[in-house]
Amino acid sequence: MKGIILAGGSGTRLYPLTLVTSKQLLPVYDKPMIYYSLAVLMQSNIKDILIISTPQDTPRFETLLKDGKELGIHIEYAVQERPDGIAQAFLIGEKFINNESTCLILGDNLFFDPNLSDLLINAKNNAEKGFSTVFAHKVVDPQRFGVVEFDKNNKAISIEEKPIRPKSDYAVTGLYFYNKDVTKYAKDLKPSKRGELEITDLNNIYLKNNSLCVETLDTDSFWFDAGTVDSLNYAGNIMRKIYNSVEKPMFSPLFIAFEKGWIDEKQLNNELKKLGKNLYTEKIIKYLLESS
Ligand code: TTP
Repeated sequence: MKGIILAGGSGTRLYPLTLVTSKQLLPVYDKPMIYYSLAVLMQSNIKDILIISTPQDTPRFETLLKDGKELGIHIEYAVQERPDGIAQAFLIGEKFINNESTCLILGDNLFFDPNLSDLLINAKNNAEKGFSTVFAHKVVDPQRFGVVEFDKNNKAISIEEKPIRPKSDYAVTGLYFYNKDVTKYAKDLKPSKRGELEITDLNNIYLKNNSLCVETLDTDSFWFDAGTVDSLNYAGNIMRKIYNSVEKPMFSPLFIAFEKGWIDEKQLNNELKKLGKNLYTEKIIKYLLESS
């Protein structure tokens, strides 16, 4: 399976923070925001990753993450000239996807669920078998999102983008596992009234074909996009709490790479040395010392 991180957009709600830097490079507690979505792909056992961003920011991501070798993975980069819609990722990434199943994650979406690893691996296995999955989470302001309509058996029957009268409180999150038809379907999309290739339109194609599972995340999990000053601040505070209360380094690409055996101890020590002494590396070192 291939993985795509969509990390472009305009970030206008964070101005002036994002006037000269990308939203997805801003700090969320001890690491850049994009590390969290990279960690989700890595936890899903996805090692072949494309990062799509704006013309000005793509080189910055490349400077940060290079070709992925330091994490035992492979990373490529592509430019989205204008923010013409989330589903455009599958057209930009057509060659990279190469008719394989693909997971897309938005670079400003943050997830925490005690069973996240299981959910991810399940969704990946299903997409490889032809069944796609999106995740929905209960929200207080569904009007801002793609909202799921369920029938009386709790089966998702449609998704409406930013509805005035939402049919449920469940918003579709920015994490999508699609089967190998994704580029083919994305090519059928027409720009919406706001001029974007809408991910909701793509999801509705899958729903109509009866090949989309809408998995609802538990209420003890959390999900949000860190796209406003308050949600960015909230994200930092939550990640700080998790950092201080969970022994294991969470959302740490370097630790995941080592845990999964994609890099060996020598390479881990090399990377830790390069990064020096800081919260990010201290957490890994402390955990490995205490669990050895
Ligand atoms: P949004 O938060 O909807 O938009 P934005 O990041 O441009 O921010 P603002 O509304 O403050 O101007 O985008 C959601 C995520 O998807 C975000 O990580 C950016 C990304 N995105 C793209 O990379 N390309 C696109 O064409 C769109 C629509 C979004």
